[in-house]
Amino acid sequence: YSHKINIAIDGPAGAGKSTVARMVASALQYIYVDTGAMYRAVTLKALESGFSTEDNELVGRLAHEMDIVLLPGSDTQRVIVDDEDVTSRLRSLEINRNVSYVARLEGVRKRMAELQRRMAQQKGVVMDGRDIGTHVLPDAELKIFLTATPRERATRRFLELGPDADITLDQLEAEIARRDQLDQEREIAPLLQAPDARLIDSTGRTVDEVAEEIVQWGLAATRTILAEEK
Ligand code: CDP
Ligand code: CDP
Repeated sequence: YSHKINIAIDGPAGAGKSTVARMVASALQYIYVDTGAMYRAVTLKALESGFSTEDNELVGRLAHEMDIVLLPGSDTQRVIVDDEDVTSRLRSLEINRNVSYVARLEGVRKRMAELQRRMAQQKGVVMDGRDIGTHVLPDAELKIFLTATPRERATRRFLELGPDADITLDQLEAEIARRDQLDQEREIAPLLQAPDARLIDSTGRTVDEVAEEIVQWGLAATRTILAEEK
């Protein structure tokens, strides 16, 4: 049998979840699953189809019918939708502005959680998102809630955009705050720290420090399981 565990990493936008989750997965030789990319893929399809992002019926059906494959890559995870690689199109400002509406829809969340649980069945998964520790994998052996101050999170995202970005730091901070609010206030599986999650504030810390801390917690959780089995 395997002694692999599942690691859930939740938190608001720009906290460093994907960066750190990828590093933790690589250190433990686990599989990284970016659940935000799945909601972004549904949003892309919904917008392309001309559907209202508030239409649970239509967008929910779309989410059930579309084929989403996550391919672990050395750098970014590739996202294949209905045999098309859409990875480079998932992080546009338009998707950023619409994704939290699509993510409120019951039909969409139900389907995503189902796919995500399937991916984690064999254990050895580092999954990042908003509702992984609370809803998708409530039995994950290690849960992390990763945060940083809103200004720091916006600054990180601003730096990623580069000098040609047609948005100011203040605008970006406001957009992130709006998305966090929608994610926190939605009815189904909102963004929330699970009672048994460890809180990490990454403000002023490097990605290496944060990833190393999580790897150590992961190894400790694995040792606990091994000790219990003896
Ligand atoms: O990378 P960033 O933190 O900006 O966003 P993301 O992780 O790609 O997630 C994009 C959006 O998808 C979030 O703002 C949520 O609205 C939604 N999401 C969700 O509802 N549940 C998840 N498990 C993951 C993402
Ligand atoms: O997935 P999430 O939206 O939580 O964040 P991300 O996509 O990993 O983006 C975080 C950005 O901040 C990346 O450019 C990281 O290099 C940087 N960063 C970090 O993640 N953690 C730190 N402690 C410091 C910087």
